[in-house]
Amino acid sequence: MCIKSALCFDPVLAKDDIYLFPLLKPEVSIQKLYQQIVVCFAGNNYSLLKSSPAMENNSDEKIYYPSQAVIEQANVQEYEKLYNWSVENPEQFWAEQADSLKWYKKWDQVLDRSNPPFFSWFVGGKTNIILNAIDRHLENANRNKLALIWEGEPGDVRTFSYHALNREVCQFANILKSMGAKKGEVITIYMPQIPEQIIAMLACAKIGAVHSVVYGGFSHEALADRINDANSRIVITADGGYRRGKVVEMKSVVNKAMELSPTMEICITVKRTGVDVYMESGRDYWLHELKALPIAANKCETEQMDSADMLFLLYTSGSTGKPKALVHTHGGFSVYTSTTHRMVFDIKPEDRYWCAADPGWITGHSYIVYGPLMNGATIMLYEGAPTYPYPDRWWKMVEKYGINILYTSPTAIRSLMRFGDSWPNRNDISSLRLLGSVGEPISPEAWRWFYKAVGREKCPIIDTWWQTETGGFMIAPLPITPLKPGSATKPFFGNVIDVVDEKGNEVKNGEEGTLVIKTPWPGMTAGIFRDPQRFIDTYWKKYDKQGWYLTGDSAKKDKDGYFRIIGRTDDVIKVSGYRLGTAEIESVMANHPAIAEAAAIALPHDLKGNCIHIVAVLRIGYTASKELEHEMIMHMVEHLGPIARPEEITFADQLPKTRSGKIMRRVLKARALGLPEGDLSTLEE
Ligand code: WT7
Repeated sequence: MCIKSALCFDPVLAKDDIYLFPLLKPEVSIQKLYQQIVVCFAGNNYSLLKSSPAMENNSDEKIYYPSQAVIEQANVQEYEKLYNWSVENPEQFWAEQADSLKWYKKWDQVLDRSNPPFFSWFVGGKTNIILNAIDRHLENANRNKLALIWEGEPGDVRTFSYHALNREVCQFANILKSMGAKKGEVITIYMPQIPEQIIAMLACAKIGAVHSVVYGGFSHEALADRINDANSRIVITADGGYRRGKVVEMKSVVNKAMELSPTMEICITVKRTGVDVYMESGRDYWLHELKALPIAANKCETEQMDSADMLFLLYTSGSTGKPKALVHTHGGFSVYTSTTHRMVFDIKPEDRYWCAADPGWITGHSYIVYGPLMNGATIMLYEGAPTYPYPDRWWKMVEKYGINILYTSPTAIRSLMRFGDSWPNRNDISSLRLLGSVGEPISPEAWRWFYKAVGREKCPIIDTWWQTETGGFMIAPLPITPLKPGSATKPFFGNVIDVVDEKGNEVKNGEEGTLVIKTPWPGMTAGIFRDPQRFIDTYWKKYDKQGWYLTGDSAKKDKDGYFRIIGRTDDVIKVSGYRLGTAEIESVMANHPAIAEAAAIALPHDLKGNCIHIVAVLRIGYTASKELEHEMIMHMVEHLGPIARPEEITFADQLPKTRSGKIMRRVLKARALGLPEGDLSTLEE
C-alpha cells in the first residue's frame, strides 16, 4: 500500500506530508509509520491549537446554556429551590434519597452528630451495597440488561448482563470464602482494567470483606506498604494487562511485594496476557482453575452489613510520607454515590455510560462501579491507552457502543486535544449527550475544545469537584445548570461549601481563599484506617471551632456563587490528575545513595497539568550529570512507580530552608519559574 494514500485519509496529516519523508524506511510497517507520524504531528498541532486566535477570543466569563433537549429530559428540573430546601433539611433530603434504595432493615436515625468529626449516617440500618448494585436488579427488567461492556486494548470484547455479573461475582465470592476470607478482612486488589477487577471488588463487598484497590501504576514497594498497613492476607491480581500495545506485568510486581509483606498468604491471579509468571504452590492460584472447582458455585448469599461497616479502603497521598487509607462504608456511600450519579449524570435506563477512569481510583469506585450499578446503568470499561493504536480509539468506541455519557479527566482531554479535531470528526459520536471532567482544574481552553470538538456544542460539560475523602461529587453542575468554562459551578444538594480566610471569615467574591465544607454529607469518609488522630489533625483541626472540613484546595467564588478551584495548598502534587505527596517523593529520593537531600515541587505542564520537578543536593563524591539524573528518575519509577516519574531533576549546593529547617518549596518553585521569590524573611542565613 502506498504510504501517501494511507495518510491522505486524514486531512490534517495530508496537508503537510513533507513531514513523512524522513520516516520512510522499507522495514517500517504502515501501522508503525502512521503512529510515528501521528506522534510527530501531535506536537505541532497542539501548539497551533494553543495559539489559535479564534480560540483565545472566547472570554472565560461567557455563559454556556444547556440546550432545550438536555433540559427537557433532565432528572432534576430545578436547582435553586431544592438546594435551599436541602441545606435547611439535609436529613430529610437524604432520608428521601435513601428511601429509593433497598435495605434489609431501615435506619433508626439519619445522622448521628454526637461524636464529630466522626459522623455516622443511617444508624441502625442494615444493607450491603451489593443488594442495590446487583441483587435488586435480578428481580426486575434489568436482569437481562447489559451491566458491563468491556473492550481490551487488543480489541477483544466481553459483555455481562446483570444476571451474568451476579454469577461471576457469586463465583468469585465463593472462591474467596473457600480461602477463608472473613467479614471485615482487608483484601488487596492490584489489577489491570479488566472485568475481573470490578468483579473482585464486588465479590469482596458481597461477603463483607473490605477491598483495598492499589492502582497498577504503583511499584512493588508502594504496593507492599499498602498491603502491610492494611494487614492484608489475600491479594488478587492478573499476570498483566495491555497498554500501548505492550504487556504491563503485574503478577511479577505482586511477587516482589509479597516478599516484603509478612501477612500475605494467598494470591489469586487472572490469566490475561499469557506472559510467563512464577507461581508458588500453596500460595498462588489461577482464577480459571479455581473457577473450575465445585467451590465456585453460582449462588452466594449477600452478607447483611450495618450502615457503618467498612466497604473499602483507598490509599491516598497526604502531606506526610506515609499514605493514608480512607475508609468508606456501606450505608452512606451507597446513598451518596447513587444519588449524585443519578442527578448529576442524569442517568436514563437506556443510557450507555462511560467513566474512562481506572477503577483503582476513587472516581472508578464511585462512578464506574458502585454509583452506576446501583442506578442499573450499562457501564463501559476499556483496558488500554486512549491513543492506541490511533488517537481516535475512544471516539471509535463511542460510535461502536453508542455511548451517551463520557466522564474523563482534563489530562486525557489535553492529550486528545493535541491531535486535533479530525480524530473525533471522523467518527459518528453524535450519541453523546453529556460530558464530564474530574481530577484537576480544567483550563477554559481544554473545556472549549471538549465542548466543541467532542460535544458539538450540544453536550454540557459536567465539571465535578470532589476528593477521595468526599466519596462523591461536592461541587458539580446539573445538566440544567448554565456553565462557565473552568468552573465546577455550585454545591450539590445538602452541602454548604465556602471560601474562607485563615480565621474562617468568608472572603470577598473573586478573591482566593481556602475551600471548606461546612456540613456533613453521607459520602464523607468515616476516617483514616486505624488512625483517628491523623484524621482529626489533617482535616478538622484548622477550623475546629467552626467544625468545618478542610479540603486542602484553594478556590474563588464569583458573584453568581460559582466556584473556581485553583489547586492544592498542601504538599500534594496532582500529576495527570493523580495525587502524590511531596514527602512521599522526597523520602524515596533520599534513599538513593547519591542524594544527601531532595525537594519535590510541582511545575506547570501542558499535558499533565503539573509535573514533578526535583531539586537535589548530592553527597560528597558525586557529580551532577545527565546520566545521574536519568538514574535518579529510574530510581523513582522503580521505588514509587511510573506515575511518580519526575520530569526533571536539577542539582543545587543547598536547599532554601526556614530557620526551623523546613524546606521552602515556594522559593524553589519561584526560582524554577523565574518569578519573584517573595518574602524571604524566614530564610535561614
Ligand atoms: C483533588 C482530589 C475526586 C476524583 C479524582 C481526584 C482536585 C478534583 C477537580 C475539579 C479542580 C479538582 C482537587 C482535589 N480536583 N476534581 N473538578 N476541578 N480540581 O481525587 O485524588 O482524591 O484528588 O483533586 O485538588 O482536592 P483525589
